[in-house]
Amino acid sequence: MSKLTTLPASAPFAPEQILALNNVFGSASTVQRAWLSGFLAGLDAGEAKPATAAAPPAEKAKLTILYATESGNAEALAAKAKQEAAKRGFATKLLDMGDATLDQLKTAGSILAIVSTWGDGEPPQRAAPFMRAFMSDAAPRLEGVKFAVLALGDSSYAQFCETGKQVDARFAALGAIRAAYRIDLDLDYEAQAKSWIASTLETLAPKDAGSVIHVDFHKIPTTEAASKTAPFAAEILAHHKLTSERADSETYHVELALAGSGITYEPGDALAVVPQNDPALVSEIIAKLGLAPEPDLTEALTSRYDITTLTAKQMKDYALITKDDALSALAEDAAKRNEFLNGRQIIDLLEAFPHRIDPEAFTALLRPLAPRSYSIASSQKSVGEEAHLTVARVAYESAGRARKGVASTLMSDRRKAGGLLDVFVKPNQHFRLPKDPAAPIVMIGAGTGVAPYRGFLQEREATGATGKNWLIFGHRHFLYDFLYQLEIQAWLQSGVLSRLDLATSRDQPEKRYVQHVLWEQRDALRNQLAKGAVLYLCGDAKAMARDVDATLVRIFADGKDEAAGQSALDALITAGRYKKDVY
Ligand SMILES: Cc1cc2nc3c(=O)[nH]c(=O)nc-3n(C[C@H](O)[C@H](O)[C@H](O)COP(=O)(O)OP(=O)(O)OC[C@H]3O[C@@H](n4cnc5c(N)ncnc54)[C@H](O)[C@@H]3O)c2cc1C
Ligand SMILES: Cc1cc2nc3c(=O)[nH]c(=O)nc-3n(C[C@H](O)[C@H](O)[C@H](O)COP(=O)(O)O)c2cc1C
Repeated sequence: MSKLTTLPASAPFAPEQILALNNVFGSASTVQRAWLSGFLAGLDAGEAKPATAAAPPAEKAKLTILYATESGNAEALAAKAKQEAAKRGFATKLLDMGDATLDQLKTAGSILAIVSTWGDGEPPQRAAPFMRAFMSDAAPRLEGVKFAVLALGDSSYAQFCETGKQVDARFAALGAIRAAYRIDLDLDYEAQAKSWIASTLETLAPKDAGSVIHVDFHKIPTTEAASKTAPFAAEILAHHKLTSERADSETYHVELALAGSGITYEPGDALAVVPQNDPALVSEIIAKLGLAPEPDLTEALTSRYDITTLTAKQMKDYALITKDDALSALAEDAAKRNEFLNGRQIIDLLEAFPHRIDPEAFTALLRPLAPRSYSIASSQKSVGEEAHLTVARVAYESAGRARKGVASTLMSDRRKAGGLLDVFVKPNQHFRLPKDPAAPIVMIGAGTGVAPYRGFLQEREATGATGKNWLIFGHRHFLYDFLYQLEIQAWLQSGVLSRLDLATSRDQPEKRYVQHVLWEQRDALRNQLAKGAVLYLCGDAKAMARDVDATLVRIFADGKDEAAGQSALDALITAGRYKKDVY
């Protein structure tokens, strides 16, 4: 039986204490847990009793696993939870929030919600229409419905697990019964998710049931986890810069060999790159800590740990282990803490509050190094056992220091043709070409947002699909950063691309973006949608996606109020005819 690392609702603590403890245990490292366990054992020697497992339900209890996902983590967890629930005898239904209606909630039985957060504290895009309805007065009362929420997020975002928090609070406000306390999980969510799901299913199971629960998530096949833990070392076949020397930023084209990997993908999928940190930064951190550059520590800081973010928890933990009162005061003051966190990384913390701590204590502070996703810019029907990526080099200055994006500069600066990159596929079922090859598509994107469309166009060319392909592409200067210009113009000439609209933002005094093209071409857009077109949006989530959405609302409102435009847009999303891959 696997260990439960979170407390069940039946634990002898107040609800808010359970929530707080679960969030501490949930994100504690092995070292921290071992320390706590020793500490508590020393405190109350002999009193601790091992948790006894409860029994599975004797009769089938109804359970709905409601998930909201963008890049598939919540979806994969929901699938695992479904298998576990089935083993325990639940009658389980998986429900994507992107397909869910409010009516389904009342008849859902118990609800286990697994919800990720995107943008800046926003729901995954396909879940947005449901969330709008769920948060509105239209939501039904849910007395008698039991629920529990597992929130996925990234603690380096200010709005950590915001959507999960909102879902949890909303269920309670609608009168539903909280069966287990919400857990907010960071990028290294797998182990805590397993035990929370196990303990929550235990809580939700009817109490009159029989035998001992057997929890073995390891036996559940998960291609995602397997590839994440065992990525494929792909050779870089080609590597070149797509932007000119005069462009404001650098974007690279990277071709990877997949032969022998067994990896297959569809246009619209992403390739995850398991990165390595910049060796110069690793050396600087080791030097700041006053440690020797031992190979084990260097390897760990290069390949295993995230050394380029800084979270509130890390500030607090570092203050605790260094007993630094000034840092402790800063970490406890939310306004000052957030001001310090803004634009800073772990190295800035070490610089501002220098202490000698041993390597184990330091690495216990760090989060695991997370893979980064890149939209695949090719179709296997065209390139065979290769995957092509379009990578924008991330480099900027903050808090007086030059910073480099971990994965993008690995690919732009530190790996060239002949080098290796560890990769695995992140399938994206929700950003696929229409099944009907005759359906028109409208592809809107800016910068690296063009990447999946290169894959779409290769696919449609290779399969001889007859549907019209319209590309609306935004970039800065026609001459410097028109990515894949020659290929796109060749597609336009051969008729694979039926229409191309460019929005070059800096070639004229007024900024011109893709949303301006959309507004100008609104009649043509309506015309394509009337013919069954599927609309795609890819690229920057913060500015572009918001502005495009607002423009689409305006177009669909068609002179009526904003609410009418929004509900027309929501209807398009729900029908799977407006698909976004924004980041
Ligand atoms: C589904 C999906 C598809 C994607 N497809 C692509 C793609 O095709 N091509 C592509 O290039 N990227 C793509 N991305 C983004 C990619 O995954 C990485 O996030 C990106 O390359 C940066 O990763 P990094 O490791 O280089 O940077 P990191 O080390 O992760 O640093 C990025 C962080 O640095 C900070 N930052 C960045 N710029 C600034 C600034 N100017 N000022 C202050 N802070 C800043 C932000 O906090 C940002 O989150 C995609 C992302 C997703 C989720
Ligand atoms: C572009 C982007 C924005 C994100 N924004 C947030 C955020 O605001 N708050 C948060 O807690 N997590 C944020 N995350 C982290 C995701 O919630 C996290 O990666 C989660 O595991 C994704 O789950 P999913 O694959 O089910 O969508 C963001 C991730 C990305 C790539």
